[in-house]
Amino acid sequence: MSRRVLVTGGAGFIGSHLVAALLARGNSVTVFDNLSVGLREKVPAGAMLIVGDVTDSAAIDAATAGHDMVVHLAARVAIRSSFEFAVEDTHTNVVGTAAVMRAAQRSGSVRRVLAASSMAVYADSPTPTPIDERHPTAPISPYGISKLALEQLVHGMAAGAGMTSAVLRFFNTYGPGQLPSPYVGVVTIFTHAMARGVAPKIYGDGEQCRDFVHVDDVVQACLRALDADVSGETFNVGTGSATSVNRICEMVQAALGSTLQATPAPAAEGELRYSIADIAKAANLLGYAPQRVLHEALPAVVRAIAERAPRS
Ligand SMILES: NC(=O)c1ccc[n+]([C@@H]2O[C@H](COP(=O)([O-])OP(=O)(O)OC[C@H]3O[C@@H](n4cnc5c(N)ncnc54)[C@H](O)[C@@H]3O)[C@@H](O)[C@H]2O)c1
Repeated sequence: MSRRVLVTGGAGFIGSHLVAALLARGNSVTVFDNLSVGLREKVPAGAMLIVGDVTDSAAIDAATAGHDMVVHLAARVAIRSSFEFAVEDTHTNVVGTAAVMRAAQRSGSVRRVLAASSMAVYADSPTPTPIDERHPTAPISPYGISKLALEQLVHGMAAGAGMTSAVLRFFNTYGPGQLPSPYVGVVTIFTHAMARGVAPKIYGDGEQCRDFVHVDDVVQACLRALDADVSGETFNVGTGSATSVNRICEMVQAALGSTLQATPAPAAEGELRYSIADIAKAANLLGYAPQRVLHEALPAVVRAIAERAPRS
């Protein structure tokens, strides 16, 4: 029987890719999204869209009824702006998660919940060595704090209601279709700037390192985590490779044939120095194996983003 999956945040970047993959394998999919960032036209044909806010209990209760699984991606996702918007971000990411979990409990039909967390839950790491899931969780941004609360709500409320759960800590996800924002997605931000002839800004010395994971690999991890016979577990989803922000900037320049040099800006509050995933747990328990290598995949992604970027 085709499983019925509700995807919150399914009109956004990762959600729209995931919804397409769920439909392709025969799931029936409902998207629940308030379209604050996501776009109606990004919801793949074949999925039903319900426009609503995850903090609206009546709306999320009604949307969840009759589904077998929930993938909870809806969130306010910007780290840097989460200091200014701590109240709004906490409301959506924490209260919204509790409302989604209560809706799943009340539905009587939902058996499994998968939720998106982030590398932002971790304490900073002193070296670019990959960190596993036992690395201390001591988030340095309100966004990271909200995601740590999400993890506990999801596992705790699922177990209490006899549902199974999995949480995925996505690292820096890149790919076509990321919605432009001044705060999220350095590949998209650099590409948009250079496509407009504007020098990209690099915060701090640019030697902070990230683990850039292609959205197709994030989707692979989500599908595996939905299907896996494990519960109450949290997994890193990255590649295990470190790339500095300076290097990413050079790679975007090369992909676009741009000679624009980055301009320096003061280091940003809430930014980790090193954020690289040890993915052994996802490999062992989920069979996750990233397929995309950054230097091979990035040029096409950058050109796809640039084609759609506004020029002025
Ligand atoms: N992109 C990354 O690098 C990354 C890294 C770590 C974690 N994540 C997590 O992955 C998930 C998806 O991120 P994304 O990059 O696709 O972001 P996105 O902003 O493209 O998607 C989030 C979606 O949630 C929707 N949304 C926001 N607030 C809502 C609300 N109150 N009610 C209903 N819908 C709401 C938005 O309209 C949007 O469509 C998020 O939970 C995010 O925190 C992303």
